[in-house]
Amino acid sequence: MISRVAIVGAGTMGAGIAQLCAQSGFSVKVFDSFPAALKSLPQRLRSGLDAAVLKGKLTTAQAERAAASVSPCAALEDLGGADLVIEAAAEDLKVKQDLFARLDAICPDAILATNTSSLSVTEISAGLKSPERAPGIHFFHPPVVMKLVEMIRTAKTSPEVFHGVWDWVLTGLRRTPVDVKDTPGFIVNRVMRPYYLESQRLALEGAAITTVDEACRGVGLVPMGPFELMDLIGLDVNLAITKVLYESLGRPERFTPQFPQERLVEKGALGRKAGRGWYLYEAAQRTGENPEAADLLPRGGVLTSAEIWSRISGALKSEAELARAEGVAGRADIDTAIKLAMNFPQGPFEWQDRSANTAKQGR
Ligand SMILES: NC(=O)c1ccc[n+]([C@@H]2O[C@H](COP(=O)([O-])OP(=O)(O)OC[C@H]3O[C@@H](n4cnc5c(N)ncnc54)[C@H](O)[C@@H]3O)[C@@H](O)[C@H]2O)c1
Repeated sequence: MISRVAIVGAGTMGAGIAQLCAQSGFSVKVFDSFPAALKSLPQRLRSGLDAAVLKGKLTTAQAERAAASVSPCAALEDLGGADLVIEAAAEDLKVKQDLFARLDAICPDAILATNTSSLSVTEISAGLKSPERAPGIHFFHPPVVMKLVEMIRTAKTSPEVFHGVWDWVLTGLRRTPVDVKDTPGFIVNRVMRPYYLESQRLALEGAAITTVDEACRGVGLVPMGPFELMDLIGLDVNLAITKVLYESLGRPERFTPQFPQERLVEKGALGRKAGRGWYLYEAAQRTGENPEAADLLPRGGVLTSAEIWSRISGALKSEAELARAEGVAGRADIDTAIKLAMNFPQGPFEWQDRSANTAKQGR
């Protein structure tokens, strides 16, 4: 039974996971090696809990209880006695391996889970005496809002540990877990990659970025086009994930980082947060296309909206099928993950089913 939770890292994700656990009724200890992060944690938690009260998600009394159930800890050793440790420290293999080596001794009976986005859970947990107690629990940002949790199984994760954490995520946190094999990018970061890369290939063939975004949105199956979405995510953050996947999957041609995005990142055109990316922004409002992006791309594309969507959706469906065939996850979990992470009304296999049905009806 999981009741005492510990979190390593009080940054964006650690604080968000702590709030989610606390407002779900668990007592939470949080350690961070950076004293300022620990010092500001109560204030950041308080803002998150106040926002939940304003939205009617929590009563004031529940928010008070949640705030009181989080204890910032000045030493990793203070996490002893936890049933579950969630590591949400820096995305660096050495940092995570060192933390796991220390946690192995401090919490000899706990489940030790990492929230890594892009590293191998197998490698992070390789040095543990019992790596069977170390699954990945990949929350999405912000954890209090996002329902999806990718539950990562390594070849060594014990079924008891996996199912114990699965039940806790499902019933304790009321999130939606999906079952994923420990592979680069898990489901979402991998299956969504063609959305960003195929769209840039189309732009390099002359399709205007506004045309590509409108073509995608126009179908009603995606809430944001690929270029506006990259601007929201941050071109740098998005490119870093592409690079990690490109390298860790053995440099497949389809995952080759595209030079327009690389050039924009070099120029500091990182998206909304910089006021410029593929588009320009003023006071968070889009004001037009970024001429720096236009200068990198040819003009005069002749593809229709239907052809653009067909290329992008086809690349996404084929990545989903490849991931399924490689045993990364099943069809239903891939669809669930993409729907919940991306706010898509349907997942890529449902698109496939829909087109197959439409074709059948047309016969
Ligand atoms: N930000 C996201 O959208 C997101 C989503 C899912 C998963 N993740 C993953 O979650 C983890 C944390 O990401 P983040 O965005 O919260 O980063 P962040 O930089 O906001 O926070 C990381 C925190 O870890 C602390 N830290 C670094 N080394 C430490 C150590 N050795 N011991 C204890 N604390 C240490 C830092 O002081 C910092 O407060 C990463 O593995 C990341 O890949 C991030």
